[in-house]
This record gives sequence, structure tokens and C-alpha cells, in this order.
Amino acid sequence: MYINIKDISHKYSNEDEDLLVLKDLSFSVEKDKFVSIVGPSGCGKSTLTKLIAGLSMPYKGKILISGTPINSPRKSIGMAFQNPVLLEWRTTVDNICLPLEIVSPQMTRKQKIERATELLEMVGLKDFSQSRPSQLSGGMKQRVSLCRSLVHRPEILILDEPFGALDAFTREGLWRTLKDLKTSENFTCILITHDLREAIYLSDEVVILTDRPGTVKKSVKTNFQINSNSVDELYSKEATEMLAFLRKQIELSHTKL
Ligand SMILES: Nc1ncnc2c1ncn2[C@@H]1O[C@H](COP(=O)(O)OP(=O)(O)OP(=O)(O)O)[C@@H](O)[C@H]1O
Ligand SMILES: [Mg+2]
Repeated sequence: MYINIKDISHKYSNEDEDLLVLKDLSFSVEKDKFVSIVGPSGCGKSTLTKLIAGLSMPYKGKILISGTPINSPRKSIGMAFQNPVLLEWRTTVDNICLPLEIVSPQMTRKQKIERATELLEMVGLKDFSQSRPSQLSGGMKQRVSLCRSLVHRPEILILDEPFGALDAFTREGLWRTLKDLKTSENFTCILITHDLREAIYLSDEVVILTDRPGTVKKSVKTNFQINSNSVDELYSKEATEMLAFLRKQIELSHTKL
């Protein structure tokens, strides 16, 4: 198993009490698969992404990648969040190059720009390479953020509600972009989302978490490969049934285990 999350629990220690956020949580992800994680607000999803990225350590249990326990941040992981946080004093292309400056200092500037431009082309923003973040729309900023998270060719991409702040049409456009990127760049993806259509459209499996302390309530293989790039297939009978099933499971997940 490629990513193996084994019985992890995590708590935050405040002045007077500990807050248990995740409890005995286990699941695994096979290489090159796309897994979505859904769960109630505050159940520990963002905390989980930080643990998988090695930015903090669980107080109990372990996370293995290809059998190796994670003890520190890894450069084979890329991350993108709801708020893209681009640097205003850098152009689009230089924002995308940022991770390369940190993890690939041996690359020449020309090579870095070529790589960033290749990604910008894939997401349809080549003409905006010299723009500043304030000159981009919300959807464009999120495309740039996706490029930045993939520029160093990570093996694993972790996305924490990246499209949550976008309107429905822009979001659907980004789903297609992400699907294209997944095909051409080849990474294993973990997506945190509140949007079940997004989960169905993009992922091979949906992991449903309980209320805090979050643990896995159910894992559902969507068995529903949308091969065409059209979002229309989300309105098919099969997809609608899957959506209803997931909604039901989430409703049940609010009942304590
Ligand atoms: N650094 C921190 N210190 C203390 N408590 C924290 C910290 N980060 C998160 N928490 C608490 O841990 C719990 C889980 O937070 P987390 O951000 O992981 O939830 P989430 O599932 O991502 O929620 P949402 O869906 O709203 O983004 C919350 O109660 C939050 O207040
Ligand atoms: Mg969160």
C-alpha cells in the first residue's frame, strides 16, 4: 500500500485542556489513485492533511509512505488550499517557480521557467505568466496555485478544499483542469472537499469521517470512472444514485459511532 495511515490520533494542547481532534483513524491509498475525504466542519480534515504532509506528527499511530514512516516534511508532496496565497510582488510564473527555488536549487532559472510555463499552458493561462496576482480572477489564482503545487513533480498532491470559494461554473472548469493535470502529471491525490459532486467526478474512492474526534465512518469506492471530460455525466442516473448513497452515509456519520 502506498500511503498507509495507521490508527492515528491527534490532539491539540491548550492551556487548560487537550482537544482530541482525530481518533484511531486508518485508511490507505494506492499509488496513482484519487481519494476524496469528506466530513463535518471541525472534524480534523485539515489537521489530517498536515499530518500526511509531515508538517506535524500524530501523538499516536503512524503514517507510512511506501512503507517509510513520515517524521518530517517531504518534498515529494505538493499542497494547495482554499486560499491560494500568492505573493503580490511576484509575477504568475515566479509564484509558480517558488517551490523549485526551495527543493530544486540545482535547476537553472531557464529550466524553472520552462517547467512553470509548461504547467501554465496546461491550465490555459500562458498569456498571464507576467501578471501579478491582483490582476487574476479567483479561478485563475486557484489554477496558478495548482501549478505551483505541482511544479516540483510531487508524487502526492494534497488539496484542502481548493475550490470551496469559487462559483459553481468556475469550480466545474477547475475540476476538468485537475483531471487533465492528473492524466498528464501522474500523482496520487488526496482531496478534502464538502462537495459530493466534486468527489464523485474526481475520485476513485470517498472516505467519510465522523464528527470530531474524526475517524473513518465509511469508505466508498465510487466505481464510477467519468472518462469523458464532460461534467454532464454527473447528472446521469448512476451518478445521481451514488450521490444519494453518499449523502445518506454522511447523514449516518453524524450519529456517533
Ligand atoms: N493549531 C491548532 N491549535 C489548536 N486547535 C486547533 C488547531 N488547528 C485546529 N484546531 C482545532 O482542531 C479542530 C479540527 O480542526 P481542522 O481545521 O482540522 O478541522 P476541519 O475538519 O478541517 O474543519 P473545516 O471543514 O471547517 O475546514 C477544530 O476544533 C479546531 O479548532
Ligand atoms: Mg479544514
